[in-house]
Amino acid sequence: MKKSLRFYLLFLLVSGYAFSLAAKTPTYVGYKKCRGCHRGERRGHVANKWEDSKHARAFEALDEKDRKNPVCLQCHTTGYGRIGNGGYLEGVQCEAGHGPGSEYKHGRIMNARRYKVNRAEQHKKAVGAGLWTPSVKTCRRCHRKNALDFKKNLSDERPLQPQ
Ligand code: HEC
Ligand code: HEC
Ligand code: HEC
Repeated sequence: MKKSLRFYLLFLLVSGYAFSLAAKTPTYVGYKKCRGCHRGERRGHVANKWEDSKHARAFEALDEKDRKNPVCLQCHTTGYGRIGNGGYLEGVQCEAGHGPGSEYKHGRIMNARRYKVNRAEQHKKAVGAGLWTPSVKTCRRCHRKNALDFKKNLSDERPLQPQ
């Protein structure tokens, strides 16, 4: 193999790797991005149910003063402490449980037809792109004291949307 070709291939490998790293750091996109695909009957009205839920209003539940209190923001917002410069999304949004969605939200990851063909494979792709699998621990991060049956909720096909 010619030396210049070898260098060229090495360059491709390194830049490809750097690109894949750069492309894979997921960021928070906000529920409106999810809503487009996850509302309506076909998707179990999951986004519509969320909009009517207490999670959606968790930020509004805080008064003006508490909206500046980092302690309250930890549990009444999404992404607080993970978004730079003290940023957050208001309320307990989709991404509080499912992880920052910039990488997994794309049709090529979540495509309905592809899911029907091979759901397990699509799930793996989504997880590779940053989708979390919510567990009781996910809920317990904020719900430290109460006795809600998170285990049962999470085992339902459409996990509980607090009303
Ligand atoms: C381009 C449309 C689209 C967007 C945008 C989208 N989704 Fe999806 N999502 C889908 C489809 C289609 C499925 C498969 C649903 C099914 O098979 O019932 C899915 C499945 C899922 C699943 C189950 C996946 C699994 O592998 O367990 C979760 C969780 C999910 N989406 C969360 C989100 C979140 C959170 C967002 C926003 C950050 C989002 N989605 C944005 C279309 C989308
Ligand atoms: C560890 C997470 C966590 C922290 C920190 C936290 N909260 Fe909450 N808060 C919750 C949860 C979870 C609920 C829902 C009630 C329940 O089921 O325990 C709640 C409920 C509330 C409610 C009732 C809302 C309603 O609709 O009735 C108010 C008001 C509230 N919190 C204010 C605050 C304020 C003010 C702070 C900061 C001083 C704060 N919370 C800090 C998790 C937290
Ligand atoms: C980022 C923090 C956070 C996470 C994660 C979280 N919650 Fe919540 N949840 C809250 C807060 C804050 C409230 C209260 C909102 C309000 O009343 O304004 C709440 C309210 C609720 C309620 C309504 C409680 C009531 O008294 O009516 C239910 C049910 C609930 N959450 C279930 C869950 C489940 C199930 C999970 C895990 C899949 C979960 N939550 C994850 C913060 C969180």
